[in-house]
Amino acid sequence: MTFLSGDDESPGPTPCETPVARHLLPDSTAVTAAGRLEVADIDVVALAEEFGTPLFVYDEATLRARCRELVGAFGPGGAYATKAFLCRAMARLALEEGLRLDVSTDGELGVALAAGAEPDRIVMHGNNKSDAELAAVVALGGGRIVVDSFDEIARLARLAGGGARGATQQVLVRVNPGIEAHTHEFIATGREDSKFGFSVASGAAGSAIDALRKVVAVEVVGVHAHIGSQIMRLDSFARIAEVLAPLAADRGLAELCVGGGLGVAYLSDESAPTITEWAAAVLAAAARAGLPSGVRVSAEPGRALVATAAMTCYRVGTVKELPGIRNYIAVDGGMSDNPRPVLYGSGYEAFLPRDVTADRPYAARIVGKHCETGDVVVAEARLPGDVAVGDVLVTPVTGAYGFSMASNYNRVGRPPVVFVRDGSARVVVRRETVADLLRLES
Ligand code: LLP
Repeated sequence: MTFLSGDDESPGPTPCETPVARHLLPDSTAVTAAGRLEVADIDVVALAEEFGTPLFVYDEATLRARCRELVGAFGPGGAYATKAFLCRAMARLALEEGLRLDVSTDGELGVALAAGAEPDRIVMHGNNKSDAELAAVVALGGGRIVVDSFDEIARLARLAGGGARGATQQVLVRVNPGIEAHTHEFIATGREDSKFGFSVASGAAGSAIDALRKVVAVEVVGVHAHIGSQIMRLDSFARIAEVLAPLAADRGLAELCVGGGLGVAYLSDESAPTITEWAAAVLAAAARAGLPSGVRVSAEPGRALVATAAMTCYRVGTVKELPGIRNYIAVDGGMSDNPRPVLYGSGYEAFLPRDVTADRPYAARIVGKHCETGDVVVAEARLPGDVAVGDVLVTPVTGAYGFSMASNYNRVGRPPVVFVRDGSARVVVRRETVADLLRLES
C-alpha cells in the first residue's frame, strides 16, 4: 500500500485501514524514505520529543496558502473568524495576509489588538455584546460591528458617536436567512428558531436596517449571515446569497457577507469543497439573484483557513486489550485539548508519524487521560499493528476549535502551540503549567 492513497484506490481496504489520506495533512507534509512524517522539513516525532506532548503543530505555509486563497477567491476585505484558533501569532499572520479579524468577545478583541490590528481590521460579532464590548469597538474608531438584536441597536444609539476619532460607526446587520445548514444541530445557526440575527422572513431584518439608519452616528454598510459550521453543501451557501441579495439591493447596501461555515475533511474518505469553489458558488448565486455588481460579496471563514494546517501529537501511555470487547489506547491528552468528539461526536483519523505509510489494521478506541468514560479522542480508530506504549500518535485536522476550545479539566495545562516553517519551529504559545493555573487563585 502506498502512502496517502486512501481516497483514490478502489477496490481495496476501507480507507480507514489504509494510510491516512494526503488531503488531511498540511501542505508542507513529506514522508522520508523510511516512512517518517515531516512537516516543513522537520521530523514530527522529533517535534514531539523537543516540545513534549500533547502538542499542536501548525504549518505556516498551509495557513498562509488558505488566507491567500480566500483573498484570491472573494477579493480583499474578507475576515478570519478568530474563534477557530487565536493567539497573537495567528492574528498577525492573518493580518499580514490582508484579512480582517472577526472577534466576538472582549478577549478575542484584546488578542487581536495585542497582535497589532488596526481598527479597520476589526469586526465585532456576538448575539449579546456587553456595553463594554460595544464601547471598546466604538472607541477604536474605524472598526465594524455586526448588529444582532434590537436591544443592541438601542445600546449603539447611546454609545455611537463617542469614538476617539468622532467617526461614524460602521455596522453590518446580522440576518437570519432561515436556511437549513445540514450540519450538527449545535453548530447550525441559520434556521428561524435561532438566537442569532434578525429574521428575513418576518421582516425584522428590514426593520433593523431602517432603525439603524435613523441612528445619526451609525452607517449601515451591509448585511451578514452565518448559517452554521462544518457545512459541506455549496447549495446552502448559494441560498444565503439568494436570500440576502434582494435585501442588499433594495436597501442600497455596499456589502453582503455570507459568513463562515465551509466544512473540511476530517476522515480519509471525506472531501470538502475548496475555498475557491465556495466563492464561485456564492458569487454565481448572488449574480443570479440580481445582486448589483457594485455590491461586494465577502466571507469570514474560520475552520477552512486553519483546520488542516495543524495536527495534534500525543504520546501513547497505555494499551489495554479487552478480549471480545475492544482495544483501548490511552494518550496523554483528551477532551481537554479536543472536546469535539465529546461535544459533536466528531470523527478523526489517527496514525503513527514514525511509520506513516503503514496500513492500519489494528482497531482501537483512542481515549484520553481524563476521569470520564466519555473522554474519547477517536472512537473507532485504525492504527498500525505494532502500535506500542511510548509511540507518538497523531490526529490530523485539529487546527480549528481544538486549542481554542481547550480547557483545564482535571487541572490539565493546555498544550503548547508550535508554528513550523522552512525547517524551523517556534513556540507561539507555551505549555500551561500548574503555576499558571495557581496564579489566578488568591
Ligand atoms: N462567523 C460567525 C459569525 C461565526 O459564528 C462563526 C463560527 C464563523 C464565522 C466561523 O465559522 P467556521 O468557518 O469556522 O465554520 N465549535 C464548533 C464550531 C462553532 C462555530 C461557531 N461560529 C466546532 O468545533 O465544530
